[in-house]
Amino acid sequence: MTTPLNSHPSGRHFLQIPGPTNVPDRVLRAIDQPTIDHRGPEFAVLGRDILGRIGTVFQTRQPVVIYAGSGTGAWEAALVNTLSPGDRVLMAETGHFALLWKRLAERLGLVPEFIPGDWRHGADPEAIHARLADDRSHALKAVCVVHNETSTGVTSRIAEIRRAIDRAAHPALFMVDTISSLGSIDYRHDEWGVDVTVAGSQKGLMLPPGLSFNAVSEKARAASREARLPRAYWAWDEIIEANTKGYWPSTPATNLLYGLQAALDQLEAEGLPNVFARHDRHAEATRRAVRAWGLEILCANPAEYSSALTAVMMPPGHDADAFRRTVLQHLDMSLGTGLSRLAGKVFRIGHLGDFNDLALMGTLSGVEIGLALAGVPHRKGGAQAALDYLAQAHAPARSAAIAA
Ligand SMILES: Cc1ncc(COP(=O)(O)O)c(C=O)c1O
Repeated sequence: MTTPLNSHPSGRHFLQIPGPTNVPDRVLRAIDQPTIDHRGPEFAVLGRDILGRIGTVFQTRQPVVIYAGSGTGAWEAALVNTLSPGDRVLMAETGHFALLWKRLAERLGLVPEFIPGDWRHGADPEAIHARLADDRSHALKAVCVVHNETSTGVTSRIAEIRRAIDRAAHPALFMVDTISSLGSIDYRHDEWGVDVTVAGSQKGLMLPPGLSFNAVSEKARAASREARLPRAYWAWDEIIEANTKGYWPSTPATNLLYGLQAALDQLEAEGLPNVFARHDRHAEATRRAVRAWGLEILCANPAEYSSALTAVMMPPGHDADAFRRTVLQHLDMSLGTGLSRLAGKVFRIGHLGDFNDLALMGTLSGVEIGLALAGVPHRKGGAQAALDYLAQAHAPARSAAIAA
């Protein structure tokens, strides 16, 4: 017998982890089409359309390489295309995902230097500046930063880090992981002078897991000509060459690309500035709820609050995972777990992707009911505080027809 999936009693399951996110119906319907010949003329039309539009989401005019693979693959691709064995790279300890990227770099034979962090702050532009200014021989070949640390709900200040690299007049490549920020939080590959942007399909892009991305600068492509780490599947040049005709060298994830086309339609129709404003509004409403409950937000710097998720600290003596289990059993809602050193200490509310004010209110109401059911000490009124905020920072009218 197969395992029944999504066999929830009635109503929709609330998938409020910070990715994978809820996939819009129009994207699911687009995926549900016959798979076509990936070397045929019909495919080239699809490929060209997507490749012509995907840069908008990264705010770049430079090539975006699309892989069938998870975000981890795109991390690896960024490193193996540009670096050589033994190269030193500067990384910032923002949380679990920064740690995983560092481990991956070590396994590839790179030598990461980790700027320590407390998992409550983003990467520190001053610390990056100081280390680069010290590196007179330019031994450091890359600076790698996670834009939105999904394990903590902290967003690093990428534009400031770019300025810090420039102030040190250091030639290191700048690589940024936008796996949980792209399509949710303002991110500008070209304007911020990023050399490789790493992204995945399953969060702000509102797709299932399975696609990942590298947006690539001229400087990164030049570095790839000299780089000596072994690379095969991840090699940019062959893919970029095949992409000029709308194809890929190996079999692409055709049905996920149908979904990507529909997701791009949806993001373009809403408009990126509106998408970012919506995420900002939902994040602020969530923080107001958390404060009203008397709970603490993990992110310690308001300038680095994440608009994609909020990590909430559990009162001492209470297990975040027991609370999450109660919420799942009674309310059919999945919340994000605490990762590595935050296990049991935080739960994470995902408020990114295909989401609106009423879905947020359902989510926050579910958290508030769950706190009561699980016996977690808190004050009532968090959902009300969010509702009050949404009522004054209201969403723009959905269309002229509805407004009329
Ligand atoms: C910021 C960040 N980086 C990297 C990853 C790893 O991506 P994946 O699990 O798709 O391989 C994740 C996954 O959630 C993430 O949130």
